[in-house]
Amino acid sequence: MTKFKTRILKSSTQSRIILANDYDSREKKLVQHTIRNIETLHEYLCAIKLNFHLLLPLGKKEIIRINKTAHQHGLQTIADIKLNDIGNTNEITTKTLWDFGFDAVIVNPIMGAQSLKKIVTSAHRQDKGVIVLCHMSAPEAKLSYDMNVKSSNDSKTIPLYQLFLKLAMSSKADGIIVGGTFPRIISKCKKTTGKKLNIYSPGIGTQGGKAKEAISSGSDFLIIGRTILNSKDPVYTAKQLQLSCI
Ligand code: XMP
Repeated sequence: MTKFKTRILKSSTQSRIILANDYDSREKKLVQHTIRNIETLHEYLCAIKLNFHLLLPLGKKEIIRINKTAHQHGLQTIADIKLNDIGNTNEITTKTLWDFGFDAVIVNPIMGAQSLKKIVTSAHRQDKGVIVLCHMSAPEAKLSYDMNVKSSNDSKTIPLYQLFLKLAMSSKADGIIVGGTFPRIISKCKKTTGKKLNIYSPGIGTQGGKAKEAISSGSDFLIIGRTILNSKDPVYTAKQLQLSCI
């Protein structure tokens, strides 16, 4: 098992919740709010996910500080940039993320099998993880991710998400993203992947996905943002979500 997978599975004995630490980038005190979230919620989390909400307004020092604080509290950190570019750009980007202290990156497999494999191999050399976008959580995702496609070395057509699943498997990535709003797709993916890939599901709560349903369908981790962040009592809400996954 890869080092990242071992680390996040170890943390998941405490909780399967990953906090999507999304704030309006124009807000003040982004670092303070993030550090406060780590300090007050860490018991109910296994990881924290940062995306452009924080990566754009913050600088290297601040991001390193957030990642260090998360690690001190036993949390893994995931950069959600849905990376999808040419090899050279992917390489420099992931190197930068690892320098900043991230444990894993979310990538978009539309970049192609070779480029994806390169990111995974290089990440694993540094004990980092790669999570591959498979099926998004928004309702309109159905239009694109369920679209029938034909891969060049195959004669029959399959839904795009199944092609992405195949790419994630063949590249030996650590996990896939499947929206918690599509429990049927989660079950289908789980049947194919078994324990080889962990399933990460955003879209719980605010977007309509149900924590228990996603877990019973096969999700290993739930990525949750606004339901916790906008709650009157984020600690209570995170605790309830953690309990609902047991
Ligand atoms: P909420 O507030 O809806 O936040 O709980 C969800 C978080 O997850 C991200 N997100 C996704 N990331 N594939 C991804 O890689 C998806 O299908 C997806 N859906 C939501 C979103 O950006 C936010 O940080």
